[in-house]
Amino acid sequence: MDHLLTLLVATAVFAFAFWPRCRKPCTASNSRQPFWKFMPSSPRLNQDDAMIDIKPSNTLARLSLTYKVLFTGFLLVIGVGLMMAGAQIMLTHGQADGKPGVSVNDIVYSYYGNRSGSKLESMLNGAMKAMAPDEVRFELIQWARDEAPEKEWKSKIEPLFQKHCDSCHNAEATIPDFTKLSNVKKVAEVDQGASIATLTRVSHIHLFGISFIFLFVGWIFGMAEYDLRWKIILVATPFVFLLVDVMSWWLTKYYPVFAWFTMIGGFGYSVASTVMIFTSLMQMWLPRPMWWPKQTEHEPS
Ligand code: HEC
Repeated sequence: MDHLLTLLVATAVFAFAFWPRCRKPCTASNSRQPFWKFMPSSPRLNQDDAMIDIKPSNTLARLSLTYKVLFTGFLLVIGVGLMMAGAQIMLTHGQADGKPGVSVNDIVYSYYGNRSGSKLESMLNGAMKAMAPDEVRFELIQWARDEAPEKEWKSKIEPLFQKHCDSCHNAEATIPDFTKLSNVKKVAEVDQGASIATLTRVSHIHLFGISFIFLFVGWIFGMAEYDLRWKIILVATPFVFLLVDVMSWWLTKYYPVFAWFTMIGGFGYSVASTVMIFTSLMQMWLPRPMWWPKQTEHEPS
């Protein structure tokens, strides 16, 4: 149901963006066109309005060696950085639902939490299942679901922990010490996902840091010889998706369905920056015919 709703919203947004409309005033010759036709076009589309800047000095292919080396160094490091970021996401969020690989569920667990139960409950139904008979497990789970009332600790719950759990979960062990109520309370709390404090911290670091990466990647790519319409789209995409990504964390905290936007956002800016990085590197180092096969008439002399 939620997924259906997302699909509907996405369709509406696309329909709006791509709905044919015409430049004013509407005439027969200036008929209905989708919005991207209004963007400045490249020589491939319109010979009169050559949008690719082919002044010798400011295309990537014609940069001096110093700048080629400088930009290449930057782009390669950023490329490796992006891959590390991908790996880091796999290792942290990717594990949240217990299965390898990033899924929508991982994102929901990370930001919205697992509100169906506490860590105590999920462990008692999972890895710790064999540690206590069913009646004991149910009693502990019930206690956690009742928000772990302290008045039942001494009389009812502590003896169960002592009998079944504390042989391993004690002060000497590296795993949580369940002889202390405070530690038990921590695992008995329902998982509410990321806190506002965490989200604020991660959001501002992310927005400030990553926008600089995209600024420089886009700046370098701006000197590439590329269809101008796509150039503008590619340069803008990472910023748009970065906002979508960060906003979706906040929305996911309250409405898990927005986890989809986190996936879409991350995917969108990875693709856009990969295209920009590869195009820039190619134009700096590979001979022109390898990346500019069709437009010989516009080749700078
Ligand atoms: C034989 C030793 C042993 C016994 C007995 C045992 N546990 Fe554990 N428990 C572990 C180990 C080892 C871990 C950490 C590894 C893991 O997360 O699977 C763990 C982890 C946990 C965690 C997750 C803690 C965290 O914050 O990561 C919970 C909750 C837990 N146990 C609950 C229980 C309860 C409740 C009992 C009693 C019914 C119990 N355990 C009995 C060995 C034990």
